[in-house]
Amino acid sequence: MAKSKLLNVNGKRVSVKYDDPQMPLLYALRDDLGLHGPRFGCGLGQCGACTVHIDGVAVRSCITPLATVEPKQKIVMLEGLAKGTKLHPLQQAFIDEQAVQCGYLCVPKTLSVLIGGGNHLTSAHNDRAAMLCPKRLGLAI
Ligand code: FES
Repeated sequence: MAKSKLLNVNGKRVSVKYDDPQMPLLYALRDDLGLHGPRFGCGLGQCGACTVHIDGVAVRSCITPLATVEPKQKIVMLEGLAKGTKLHPLQQAFIDEQAVQCGYLCVPKTLSVLIGGGNHLTSAHNDRAAMLCPKRLGLAI
């Protein structure tokens, strides 16, 4: 029998249904809530396509069990960055500079990593993020 759990996603209280508490957070976000900013790439915590922020820390939602996320924790993803119709400065910079990567994996991952400051990532991850972020964005990484 399916259970439900409250989450705080992009500033809203939402309820998700699950059968297995070990279900990845990514599945709840995409399949239950219909939020497609985080993507399924490798499913192994390596590619970063599924990155979301939990209390300001970037995490790989494909390897984060739903059971480990508390209702009071704030989950933010691409859909939650804009303030109404005003895009986050990095989102606007991507549009202004036509800084399109593949659009499937790279853009969500790059924005998530950059906005999170890469504070949880290894220097190798930061190096990768820097490579994905064109200098034309004018960002100091
Ligand atoms: S899908 Fe690749 S890290 Fe999550």
